[in-house]
Amino acid sequence: TVMEQLLGVRSKEKQLCKLLGIDHCLIVAGDATELPKVLTDMGKLVNETLDVILPHGENIIAVMGGTTMAQVANSLTPKLAEKRHLIFVPARGGLGEAVDIQANAVCARMAVHTGGQHRVLYIPEHVSEQTYKPLLAEPAVKEVLQLVDKSSAVVHSIGEAIPMAKRRDMSTATITMLQQKQAVGEAFGYFFNQAGEVVYKIPRIGLQLRDLERIPSVIAVAGGANKAAAIKAYAQLAPQQTWLITDEGAANLILKGA
Ligand code: BG6
Repeated sequence: TVMEQLLGVRSKEKQLCKLLGIDHCLIVAGDATELPKVLTDMGKLVNETLDVILPHGENIIAVMGGTTMAQVANSLTPKLAEKRHLIFVPARGGLGEAVDIQANAVCARMAVHTGGQHRVLYIPEHVSEQTYKPLLAEPAVKEVLQLVDKSSAVVHSIGEAIPMAKRRDMSTATITMLQQKQAVGEAFGYFFNQAGEVVYKIPRIGLQLRDLERIPSVIAVAGGANKAAAIKAYAQLAPQQTWLITDEGAANLILKGA
């Protein structure tokens, strides 16, 4: 029956939280790698979750880029902004993503879908540390970084290490190093192994992993069987208050101990 199914999912969510050591896990049916609709369902759940956990009034929401986040943006609704003034800001700039999935683009789309505001962080995507460091002194950059600092929520995804490194055009030497160090996952530009140890970090400004601890609401959205290992590894770095929004494709594998 529907009730039994629901209870089954709830108990799986509880088990997953326990195994991953985080406060909240929500699982949607299906596998995002096989059915695009699953990603839409995860997006809707992000919308509902934000509506429950964000306080009324002003909320600065720091967001990351990626294909998952771009899809999540399409699922946000004006209901979120009914009693809130929402400002979407890129959490970190310059990870080397294609224009349409950069955090700037995701923020703009979230603002359109909710009727909120957004800011952009003008950090070139493919530059050396020496080139972007002076940009920190720019008032426009400073203003956005101050907003990120005051954010009440962060929404991000989690990626597989090597596919992410390749998508971001990282050097062959770096990719080889990531393989040698057995990197399995990536989030916020940090690459980590199965044990949740950071093995490489793209040096970029904006939110750092350690900043997550003091952000009231952190939502990690990642699904699909292929992301199971990355999610499991990242959970060891994730702050306790994390809400993981995932699908059965990933959850079943993690629960099986794969
Ligand atoms: C982003 C994260 O939100 O999602 C990245 O900042 C992560 O660190 C990426 O790797 C995953 O991308 P995708 O396209 O699989 O959603």
